[in-house]
Amino acid sequence: MGDFATLVVQWQKTHGRNQLPWQNTRDPYRVWLSEIMLQQTQVATVKAYFARFLARCPDVASLAAASLDEVLGLWSGLGYYSRARNLHRCAQDVMQLHGGRFPQDAQTLQTLPGIGRSTAAAIASLCFSERVAILDANVKRVVTRVQGFDADVALAANARALWDVATALLPAPKRAAQDMARYTQGMMDLGATVCTPKKPQCELCPAQQLCVAAKLGEPTRFPVRSRKLKRSSQAIWMLWAQTRNGAVWLSRRPTPGVWAGLYCLPLFDSEQDLRLALPPAALEHLQCEPAFTHVLTHKDLHLHACRVALTSKTLLDGGPGKEGGDGRWVSAEEWPGLGLPAPIRKMLSRVD
Ligand code: ADE
Repeated sequence: MGDFATLVVQWQKTHGRNQLPWQNTRDPYRVWLSEIMLQQTQVATVKAYFARFLARCPDVASLAAASLDEVLGLWSGLGYYSRARNLHRCAQDVMQLHGGRFPQDAQTLQTLPGIGRSTAAAIASLCFSERVAILDANVKRVVTRVQGFDADVALAANARALWDVATALLPAPKRAAQDMARYTQGMMDLGATVCTPKKPQCELCPAQQLCVAAKLGEPTRFPVRSRKLKRSSQAIWMLWAQTRNGAVWLSRRPTPGVWAGLYCLPLFDSEQDLRLALPPAALEHLQCEPAFTHVLTHKDLHLHACRVALTSKTLLDGGPGKEGGDGRWVSAEEWPGLGLPAPIRKMLSRVD
């Protein structure tokens, strides 16, 4: 189906996105960084983070040399922090195992931390014009609809077959050098702007004439996915101990778990557990606020802030027990620069 690729490439030139900050470069460092940021985060949010990250770490060597704390700080608010930890490890691997240069083919790129098959293909096709298919959620939608692929993509065998379908749609080998980068970008753009999950705008789609799903008149039937994400919820009590001059008690979250590796207020499963961790004198100053909800991919967190406003640090002598055991007082000047979960940062920045 060579025609499909040509249509996508032509469409991308005039209707695709061509001015994003990570475009118009073939620098694999920038493309890689943007792809990792864009995995679970909207374009609009990524723009600001991307610029800030590049200002501090303009190349793979500077990222490899930065501390993990600094990288987590730069990532703070983007969520899914395993991405930041892998990013840091990946930069170090590129320096140590690849002489400071990114590998130029998808197969080798895929051996690096945090780079899966689709991300490897995005980097290799966008930077080096390799003829390899990407298959992120947006592109899965485009491919299953165009081909009327109605097998359950939650099953591994079908997911594998879909990679072959995506590969069959690529520009012809002799067109690859010329077209691969634009084709990959075009597929992302189609999925993000036209072939959307709920109300696809088929009348704007360059592939409408050859799209099986459009012919069936039911584009939203695809992709077929039987297994639904099971969501859970968890209530958490956060000990928010802060002195008058703004120092706050923070400890590092254990790995694995929610917010692994980030600095955080001490967390407890119940208000009672939290109270037990405090010296009796501090209990008088404790005020628990109603919960607010923070939504993660698989989980809704119901967060209760329990404040202890202190006149001096000594009231919490030695710090809160158990959970808070590895914590420390962090000054008002220092904590904004640390890697903190977004809802915690927002809460601590509150003025009231
Ligand atoms: N999502 C993932 N990669 C992207 C890219 N290169 N441009 C826009 N959105 C994307």
